[in-house]
Amino acid sequence: MKIGLGCDHGGYNLKLEIMRYLESKNIEVVDYGTNNAEESVDYPIFGEKVADAVISKDVDYGIVCCGTGIGISLAANKVPGIRCAVVSDVFSAKMSKAHNNANMLSLGERVLGRGLALEIVDAWINTDFEGDRHSRRVNMITDIEDKHNK
Ligand code: RB5
Repeated sequence: MKIGLGCDHGGYNLKLEIMRYLESKNIEVVDYGTNNAEESVDYPIFGEKVADAVISKDVDYGIVCCGTGIGISLAANKVPGIRCAVVSDVFSAKMSKAHNNANMLSLGERVLGRGLALEIVDAWINTDFEGDRHSRRVNMITDIEDKHNK
């Protein structure tokens, strides 16, 4: 499994923790920036970079961080084919994969402590999509996207 990581300044420290955690599990990561917490940068840039990497299959999944996890997820979700879930608890992390087949996870550094954030990441990467009736619903999301992108 190869995971693309991205953040703005508000999510930089959490992204570093996630990168170290994934590397400790021998999971390959690709870092799409930003590279420090001091310089204020615009989260849409990094949400789009990771989303593009997921869609082009340069990575299997993406994990992004900003202050709340919200802005960078909104940007990522504008890329067709991306299902980026903002998650703050372990149950939702599992369900976002099992039922929604989320291909990106978004976390808020100013929302979550390190311990919970890493538990969420662990739950998310270790949960599979259940398919069946959930495939129909996920396909319906794609249909909405297709309809509005014409
Ligand atoms: C940056 O200050 C902050 O707005 C950003 O990290 C994020 O929380 C936006 O959704």
